[in-house]
Amino acid sequence: MTNLAPKKVRTSSLAELKAAGKKFSCLTSYDSLTAGIFDEAGIDVLLVGDSAADNALGYSTTLPITVDEIIPFARAVAGAAKRSLVVVDLPFGSYETGADDALRNSIQIIKQSGAAAVKLEGGAERVPQIEAIVSAGIPVMGHLGFTPQSVHSLGGFKVQGRGEKAAQLMQDALALEKAGAFAIVLELVPMDIAGEISAALTIPTIGIGAGPKTDGQILVWTDFAGLSGHKPRKFVKQYAQMRKLLAEAAVSYKNEVENSVFPDEATSFAD
Ligand code: KIV
Repeated sequence: MTNLAPKKVRTSSLAELKAAGKKFSCLTSYDSLTAGIFDEAGIDVLLVGDSAADNALGYSTTLPITVDEIIPFARAVAGAAKRSLVVVDLPFGSYETGADDALRNSIQIIKQSGAAAVKLEGGAERVPQIEAIVSAGIPVMGHLGFTPQSVHSLGGFKVQGRGEKAAQLMQDALALEKAGAFAIVLELVPMDIAGEISAALTIPTIGIGAGPKTDGQILVWTDFAGLSGHKPRKFVKQYAQMRKLLAEAAVSYKNEVENSVFPDEATSFAD
């Protein structure tokens, strides 16, 4: 089935897909090679997530990555993506301090990367930041539920919005929509709550560990491709086994070099 997205995916394209009852797909990307592959495959949104911190820079959480560190990843992805909408995470510490910092850092990211939009984590308390960024002409994606930048105060990777907390999650989602966010990521949220929030909003929701009732889905690319070293979480589906494939290739290469099988005549130059 074809979707309604035009050649270049815009924030408005996602709203049109939602209005038409069509789902859309998103993946993270941190480099030009994967961005080009995912773009050609028709993935609608490429998120240069702050998950680059643990997936590309070797940090153990998303917290240490800075604005200056995320920009080269964003530039690589934005440069390779011909069709996909490219969204960049505002790193921890770049927006919580107020609307001015949020705006200044968003402008720097958009100016220096060529991406189209930014994403930030948090609920109604982020309304001033979202309003400031949106009023400068930069689209903002929200992020509710489990927000990885608050991993320490949330007590680890836990499902959010269960029981009485569902009402707060709904209020936050409505506040973000009112402030001008064009979409909201819902991470680790019970599927029925995610469904209710998706139905209450005009803007699209994008689920990760939030079940099938959101408007779009996102996965961290190293998880979906089976490249991460850690055991996949319950909500992750691995669509490839890249870690195994690369490990086998590396062992074959090592063995061929050590046994003088590679290089051979076919891969060498004559006089
Ligand atoms: O940084 C990231 O990868 C994200 C996704 C989990 C949505 O924010």
